[in-house]
Amino acid sequence: MPAAGLNLWPQLHQELSGPFSEDQFLASHIMDSTTDCFFALDRNWRFIFINKAAETFFRIKREGLIGFRYWESYPKILGTVFHRNFLKVMVHREPRNFETKTVYGKAWLEVRVYPCRDGICVQFRDISERKQSEKLLKETNERLIQANEYKTEFLRNMSHELRTPLTAIIALVSGMQMKLSEYSPERMEEYLNTILKNSKRLLGLINDLLDFSKAENGKMSLNLTEAKIGDITSDVVKVLRPLAAEKKIQIRTEIRDRETVIADIEKVGQVVMNLVGNAIKFSEANGKIEVSVYDGAVPEGTFLVVADSGPGIPEDEQDKIFDAFYQINRGLNKKYQGSGLGLALVKKIMDFHLGKIEVTNRKQGRGAIFKAFWPAYPCFEKDLD
Ligand SMILES: Nc1ncnc2c1ncn2[C@@H]1O[C@H](COP(=O)(O)OP(=O)(O)OP(=O)(O)O)[C@@H](O)[C@H]1O
Ligand SMILES: [Mg+2]
Repeated sequence: MPAAGLNLWPQLHQELSGPFSEDQFLASHIMDSTTDCFFALDRNWRFIFINKAAETFFRIKREGLIGFRYWESYPKILGTVFHRNFLKVMVHREPRNFETKTVYGKAWLEVRVYPCRDGICVQFRDISERKQSEKLLKETNERLIQANEYKTEFLRNMSHELRTPLTAIIALVSGMQMKLSEYSPERMEEYLNTILKNSKRLLGLINDLLDFSKAENGKMSLNLTEAKIGDITSDVVKVLRPLAAEKKIQIRTEIRDRETVIADIEKVGQVVMNLVGNAIKFSEANGKIEVSVYDGAVPEGTFLVVADSGPGIPEDEQDKIFDAFYQINRGLNKKYQGSGLGLALVKKIMDFHLGKIEVTNRKQGRGAIFKAFWPAYPCFEKDLD
């Protein structure tokens, strides 16, 4: 439609100065039926033609514009990109195209300006939707590029994470194979313990990876039962205390929940394990961790709060740490083990429970505070079937 409208201009503008012919009536009728806006200005910047679409756009009857100078009706136009381009076409008699926001900044316009006898013709259309789609596309592209960067980084990390325990296992087993008879039972036990520890680390890593990839495909299945978040938390903290003790970190627990929630006990355990595990990992020696569990009234459910005395999370990274593979100062913080999947998995698990996870920093002193919420009676999609 717009292309057809454009071709009519030469015919129309030739007619503009003469008496109205039948052809001109036809042309102006067709111009009125296009969705593009058109208007024509004579060399004194006076409106000599406005089509219906332009009339609607300007929200003024054409009788109120015809014969008036452009800036008498639109004083704000002076000095703008419109004015500059219109002037160039008036002077140089060369067509120009440009995209810009309206003077009032609400919509995006695509504008074509043509010399038309001794004046100019202007065709424009609202391209806000296209601009919006372009913006979305650009944002999606940027996100994809970033995700790809994380993945590359992740592969590098993952190879490192897999190789370290595997190398240790292979070195120990090869040594044992060669000099088995020379090893004392104590040494043997120490080596076997190391092998077991490294094997468990590998298994944990692979399990995280599998769980995450299942959740990514929407296939995480929850084994729902009545669960007491406080009990699960106490069990997990018990397992993690020796790890904290290695860094002389104190873990204080305050378990006050009385109600149960409907949840997957194993997955809740994974959440607690990840949050308290991170608190231990990222805190300096002699740090303090507080773990509290309590019921919430509105909406009904249970909260778990893990607060540490580590470096905290910079505000602009607080959203990102829940992305898969994201690690703050990835390059620099390789002093910590990990692949950057822990919190992404936590987020997925909380989403699958229709719960919530958020992070803030302590207002006083240093440290991060992670707060998870499980609704007491989540309403799953399958319940609605
Ligand atoms: N309690 C915390 N204090 C400071 N930084 C944290 C804390 N928890 C998480 N982070 C930051 O968020 C990043 C992502 O955490 P996440 O648990 O997903 O990954 P990870 O612990 O590095 O690896 P993984 O959990 O897979 O072993 C961490 O690398 C770290 O930079
Ligand atoms: Mg982690």
